[in-house]
Amino acid sequence: MQIVFGIDFGTTNSALSVFRNGSVDVISVDDTAQDNQLMRSVLYFSEDNEIFTGNEAIRQYVEDGAAGRFMQSIKTFLPNTSFTGTEVFGTRYEIDDLVAIILKKIKARGEAHVGCPVESVVLGRPVVFSTDAAKDAVAEQRLEKAARKAGFKNIWFQYEPVAAALAFEDTLHAGQERVVFIGDFGGGTSDFSVIRVKGGAFDRSDRRSDVLSLGGVYVAGDKFDSQVMWDKVAQYFGRYARYKPMGKEEWQDIPASIVYTLCQWHRIPLLRGRKTRELIRVIKRTTDDRPAIEHLENIIEDNFGFALFQAIEKAKCELSDGEMATIRFTECDLSISEGIEKGEFETINAQNFRKIEACIDEVVAQSGLTPAQIDTVSLTGGTSKIPHIQKLFADRFGLDKSENRDVFTSVVHGLGSSVPLFV
Ligand SMILES: Nc1ncnc2c1ncn2[C@@H]1O[C@H](COP(=O)(O)OP(=O)(O)OP(=O)(O)O)[C@@H](O)[C@H]1O
Ligand SMILES: [Mg+2]
Repeated sequence: MQIVFGIDFGTTNSALSVFRNGSVDVISVDDTAQDNQLMRSVLYFSEDNEIFTGNEAIRQYVEDGAAGRFMQSIKTFLPNTSFTGTEVFGTRYEIDDLVAIILKKIKARGEAHVGCPVESVVLGRPVVFSTDAAKDAVAEQRLEKAARKAGFKNIWFQYEPVAAALAFEDTLHAGQERVVFIGDFGGGTSDFSVIRVKGGAFDRSDRRSDVLSLGGVYVAGDKFDSQVMWDKVAQYFGRYARYKPMGKEEWQDIPASIVYTLCQWHRIPLLRGRKTRELIRVIKRTTDDRPAIEHLENIIEDNFGFALFQAIEKAKCELSDGEMATIRFTECDLSISEGIEKGEFETINAQNFRKIEACIDEVVAQSGLTPAQIDTVSLTGGTSKIPHIQKLFADRFGLDKSENRDVFTSVVHGLGSSVPLFV
């Protein structure tokens, strides 16, 4: 009996499925998490170099007062050829080593569940890791290398939205046939496919002719968080502060590059360079918003970017269920209580939504079908909970075509359902 794992290594969350005896089960990967079918794709290295993953990593990071190194959105770095790895407390980790730590943990959980070693895996990948073909190939190679380091010997890749479509297919009755538009809105990427699906038993060894089009865009949950940081929170860290450069009389804005870096919390430690620190000290001497520059120094020094972004993400998620939310955050003498309305969230993210819309329209056009010829729209991924994302589809396809399934596990389920295509 062959057992194959399906692993959805996501930007925010990872999940595991088991293909065994022709059927697929999504199984628990993190008992300490609220939803044990998901493991946060994060790593934490404590100062004494113990490595934690998932919810444990978050708990330990917070307990240690953010003293060690915390990493998230590692998937985002896979296509980044200028990032090959990093040193953590004197030990060098290549990017595939970092990913391998997470995959190894998930593999061990799966093996404990099935009670034997498993060497085969179907891994999900976004439709586009990068629009640059060379970088895209690098990303997949790195992911494959990570899977090898984690102990897998047979490794296959499946596009994430195709996997979601196959999960949808598993819910159809024999004989039912549909053309479905899949939208998978995650943390790092939004991926789309138009695919023909059929219920019941048939030869599933080659599905290429059923995939009518594929596409993706690098705009998803993380980008929405960054945008909220830029428009609603960056002012607490000097976005509008001015200063007088040495020997000059006229006011100058603080460099936008500093504020941009703040908008991706995992890049904030990059501001620890000697030159940047020196510049911030100079700014502080003459600035018209000294408290903000002090907060800027503190966020760089004390590494509380992660906690701040959790507060932002929480408010964003609340806006999916209500009209209004408040970003609340306290740290030392910084106290943020910033209201944000749903309409405002949509306005500040207008450009992000436009990029998503353009990609949806392109994927529909590439399929050679009109929206009317598409039977069903199925949205998945955490970011698909944003009402405006759902509206983009209602506007194009009508409300009655939406059939949304398990937001967080349809991709991993479909990776398990992909096994017969490869084995
Ligand atoms: N209720 C909600 N409203 C808005 N966004 C949400 C909600 N719940 C979760 N999210 C967002 O969904 C994202 C995570 O979704 P998901 O787990 O599908 O991503 P992922 O699979 O890890 O990422 P990717 O597929 O891009 O690699 C995060 O950005 C999170 O903030
Ligand atoms: Mg995903």
